[in-house]
Amino acid sequence: MVDNTKGRMDMGRVYVFDHPLIQHKVALMRKKDTTVKEFRELATEVAMLMGFEATRNLPLKEVEIETPMCRTKVNMLDGEDIAIVPILRAGLGFVEGMLALVPNAKVGFVGMYRDPDSHEPVEYYCKLPKDIDRREVFVLDPMLATGGSAVAAIDAIKKRGAKKISFLCLIAAPEGIKTLTEAHPDVNVFIAAMDEKLNENAYILPGLGDAGDRLYGTK
Ligand code: PRP
Ligand code: URA
Repeated sequence: MVDNTKGRMDMGRVYVFDHPLIQHKVALMRKKDTTVKEFRELATEVAMLMGFEATRNLPLKEVEIETPMCRTKVNMLDGEDIAIVPILRAGLGFVEGMLALVPNAKVGFVGMYRDPDSHEPVEYYCKLPKDIDRREVFVLDPMLATGGSAVAAIDAIKKRGAKKISFLCLIAAPEGIKTLTEAHPDVNVFIAAMDEKLNENAYILPGLGDAGDRLYGTK
């Protein structure tokens, strides 16, 4: 039994969500009978719920506007300063949900796959907004297993100048959280569920299987 019922845990920069809607939707995604269509829809819904919380500290600026009644000062987001960066493939499943929240965000991509034998990440693509250095970056990937892919993707993003980075994932193994937080202690890590362990093939238990395959029906 996965114990995600202890409230939102806050361990330094690691946040594990306790919201009942998130827990329920993640539970549905774990079920092996959940269809590709349902899995994709749930991924979008969870991304919106997590994104809502992960964007809580975005900077605001005061702007003067005119309502039908009078002029007034209101708070609005401080510029178009957000980038979302899915790690291909499975991170793509979170893009629609995040863009629904921040439609002006720019989108970059890091392509990463795990070598099936060594489980080491292999980067095959990286295309980021040119002004990534001045943007608040949300890196998206549903699975944090060994942590290798997340660390390598964030290395690549930092190398191109990004400074403020958050990582959003659905399910994390303790091994992955340790590796990621040790390599990038400055990165906020938002997790919907923390699982028990990795199996001998570095898959998360109980997990949900291969996130890319479940999103795109490739198995
Ligand atoms: C999955 C997942 C992560 C990675 C996590 O991608 O989407 O990127 O594994 O594992 P790690 O923490 O041990 O690095 P995968 O390599 O299966 O590629 P895919 O998305 O193209 O299927
Ligand atoms: N990648 C996945 O998609 N699932 C896991 O459990 C581990 C890595």
